Amino acid sequence: MAERTFSIIKPDAVGKGYTGAILAEIEKAGFRFVAIKKQSISKEQAEGFYYVHKDKPFFNGLCEFMSSGPLFLMVLEKDNAIAGLRKLMGATNPANAEEGTIRRKYAASIQENAIHGSDGQETAAFEIGYWFAGYELL
Ligand code: CMP
Repeated sequence: MAERTFSIIKPDAVGKGYTGAILAEIEKAGFRFVAIKKQSISKEQAEGFYYVHKDKPFFNGLCEFMSSGPLFLMVLEKDNAIAGLRKLMGATNPANAEEGTIRRKYAASIQENAIHGSDGQETAAFEIGYWFAGYELL
């Protein structure tokens, strides 16, 4: 059944000019773009988005990085979208990401790892609702 997931092309990938290449990979993999917008986010917005990581040692650096430049927020749809996008992205740390994955090709480090994707259905619902109003989902 068609499922929705939430994704971000992160500031590192946008700054390096990889947006078009990453969007093309996502579309080629069969995802439909339900919503997409370019935005600069505040550190406070990043902290709210990543609140599950608030006690991790990397939390502050992660939120500073995510608010350091424009990014692309997206809602994507296809059968098994959540697992499918995570496979296409590759492991969080690009050093461990499989050959051919987005992070292997475009990410520089475990923090500046080019792309985010929801890790489960509940997370996807929270993340979509955090950044998008219902009328923006087409
Ligand atoms: P993401 O999939 O967006 O989910 C949480 C983010 O935290 C992750 O990608 C990385 O950008 C970042 N992250 C996870 N683990 C670490 C780590 N050990 N050090 C720095 N950043 C991390």
